[in-house]
Amino acid sequence: MSSEDVTRLLRGAYQDEIETVMNYLTNSIVLDGVRAEEIKESLQQDIQEELSHAEQLGQRLKQLGERPPGSAEFTASQQSLQPPEDSTDVISVIEGVLDAENGAIETYRAIIDAAEAADDPVTENLAVTILADEEAHRTEFRGYRTEYVKD
Ligand SMILES: [Fe+2]
Ligand SMILES: [Fe+2]
Repeated sequence: MSSEDVTRLLRGAYQDEIETVMNYLTNSIVLDGVRAEEIKESLQQDIQEELSHAEQLGQRLKQLGERPPGSAEFTASQQSLQPPEDSTDVISVIEGVLDAENGAIETYRAIIDAAEAADDPVTENLAVTILADEEAHRTEFRGYRTEYVKD
């Protein structure tokens, strides 16, 4: 693993965070109903955290002599997080969030490994910090899923 692997992974993670912000925002607006309220509030909170992840990744890229991508380089990938046809279909959003958080967890684990191999402890440390946030998000939404599946 080289420093190019690290910056490639950082650019990918930056795009994923921006896509996550877009889909969490859209779903927090689209969902309807009493049962959706808590999910919408939770998404609104997480949007701020995901945006801060993107910012930290972008700043790290800059420190490494690179730059974060603009929208022309963007490729969307979060199929399961598209706003549901039925605006009361809260469980589909919960499942989409879990897919996104699992994807983020895999990405940050890959960055931790690549950064360690490239002897880049600062990037490694950043990825560990963000990984902890993503695991907390996943735990939160696993809790929501348990509640919804029970009802
Ligand atoms: Fe994130
Ligand atoms: Fe997250």
